[in-house]
Amino acid sequence: MSRVSTGIPGLDDLTAGGFISGDIVLVTGGPGSGKTTLGLQYLYRGAMDYGEPGILVTLEESPARVIRNAWQFGWDIERLIKENKMRVIHADPIAYAHYIPDRGDGDDMHLDTGSKIVETLSKHIERYVGEIEARRIFIDSITSLKISQEQIRARFTIMELIKNLENLDCTTVLSSEINSGTLSYESFSVEEYLSEVVIRMHTFRVSGNRIRAIEVLKMRGGKHDDMLRPYAIIDTGLVVYQRETVIDGEVISAVTMM
Ligand SMILES: Nc1ncnc2c1ncn2[C@@H]1O[C@H](COP(=O)(O)OP(=O)(O)OP(=O)(O)O)[C@@H](O)[C@H]1O
Ligand SMILES: [Mg+2]
Repeated sequence: MSRVSTGIPGLDDLTAGGFISGDIVLVTGGPGSGKTTLGLQYLYRGAMDYGEPGILVTLEESPARVIRNAWQFGWDIERLIKENKMRVIHADPIAYAHYIPDRGDGDDMHLDTGSKIVETLSKHIERYVGEIEARRIFIDSITSLKISQEQIRARFTIMELIKNLENLDCTTVLSSEINSGTLSYESFSVEEYLSEVVIRMHTFRVSGNRIRAIEVLKMRGGKHDDMLRPYAIIDTGLVVYQRETVIDGEVISAVTMM
């Protein structure tokens, strides 16, 4: 199995050398935990350091905003786009929903909307993958695709998207939102079951200090680190401190990995 370097210092050590090529990797975390930074860094370093072009799909933030925010880490996304090393798709669910006429037959149009977005988006991604021979995809975030009030329909939408992504020869990172603030969670989502790898980013406060910690919750077909590791967002992006761990809210140094 060939490995894909994430480009995030320390993260490859938690996954025994990076993601497995072709995998779907889910990154979950609360607001401001660093999901977008992680995914962008994965694409940027992929294109710059590993010769792997990437597709960024942004469902919430406008591309202009993402590009601007990337600048603070020194990442020139516009240059990558010009050099055909990156493509950006703005799949704004609200805009999409307005384009889909209500058929007026009393059917729940939410199913149509969710499925329609996934169908259109999948074709769009596939076209761009062909155009620039992309090897990496980052979709930020799939939570926005859960449009239907009905859980079963929202799940179906995510299942459809993941199925389509599996047919592409790319290693894909999906971000999704979870409630932040604690280390506990009540239920697992469909994307957590369907992804090969699940990474969780936690932010919490202990004695007035903000602690950021990341963990690999699962990795099918691969050995992975099992501990909570501190991470930081600095001027160059995200950094994982793979030799330290977080126990009871305290950062402990020099803990052997795996
Ligand atoms: N240059 C920087 N130096 C230090 N921390 C930074 C820097 N830039 C951003 N951050 C931190 O990163 C956080 C935002 O990260 P990011 O946008 O990747 O999170 P996110 O999980 O995608 O958030 P959301 O759920 O709102 O989309 C900010 O709240 C801030 O704490
Ligand atoms: Mg984000």
